[in-house]
Amino acid sequence: MKEKTALVTGSTSGIGLAISDALAHNGYSVVMTGRRKTLLNDLVQKRKDEGLRVFGVPADLSLAPESDRLFEAGLGILNGRLDVLVNNAGAYVHRTVSEIDAPSFDALMALNLRAPFLLSKLAFPVMKRQSGGTIVNISSVAGLQAWAGTSLYSATKFGLRALTESLLAEGAQYGIKAFAICPGYVHTPMAGPSRVDAREMIQPEDIARIVLAHLSLSGPVVMKDVVVSRLGAEG
Ligand SMILES: NC(=O)c1ccc[n+]([C@@H]2O[C@H](COP(=O)([O-])OP(=O)(O)OC[C@H]3O[C@@H](n4cnc5c(N)ncnc54)[C@H](OP(=O)(O)O)[C@@H]3O)[C@@H](O)[C@H]2O)c1
Repeated sequence: MKEKTALVTGSTSGIGLAISDALAHNGYSVVMTGRRKTLLNDLVQKRKDEGLRVFGVPADLSLAPESDRLFEAGLGILNGRLDVLVNNAGAYVHRTVSEIDAPSFDALMALNLRAPFLLSKLAFPVMKRQSGGTIVNISSVAGLQAWAGTSLYSATKFGLRALTESLLAEGAQYGIKAFAICPGYVHTPMAGPSRVDAREMIQPEDIARIVLAHLSLSGPVVMKDVVVSRLGAEG
């Protein structure tokens, strides 16, 4: 049986770390990435010590050439095979339209939308050659609805769902699946400033379980826009 491989962005923390761990524990060789080199090295070493096949490639995905460099390095480590790409790295900005200037608009778009676009574009020919693969895009409930202060973040996450739909349509004939997960509050450093009690939040491992569930589906079956909410709450 062929080795299963994955690249998970934003895997130094939160949701990406949980997805990366879930994949590694399910037999995948995983390339982990983030900007924080020391933290990345420590996380990778700890997992290697446990016998997991994980590798670290630091990258700052707000810079376009870093997507190319990450992909090339990651694919080399994974021996040219990529079964799963998880576009998870992202940041949140809470500002009104009047408070957002062009540089901050470009910066969030670059990280939350351009990097997933570029990495998906790079993954496509590899998955096409393999006759299959899965691209998971971590959107948000803010990718389905926008509120005061979420215009920019929501625009990136709506955009990510649009990218996902096109990837799904363009990839279907090659067995390439794309799906978006749209969570409400997840207990990670990003949700730290929210007023929701941490114990009431979705756990990063819940999102990882959804990724594994999707990967366990039979060939022609896909999930679309998986919305993950808290019981009795909107977001
Ligand atoms: N937490 C929530 O409530 C929630 C809800 C819905 C959707 N989401 C989405 O879920 C995803 C993960 O968020 P999280 O909650 O797990 O946040 P987190 O704990 O803050 O993790 C964010 C990850 O993204 C990486 N990252 C940030 N900026 C980067 C950059 N310029 N280049 C490369 N990597 C970068 C971080 O690594 P480094 O710092 O090492 O670069 C980190 O690994 C995001 O796309 C977020 O929008 C989160």
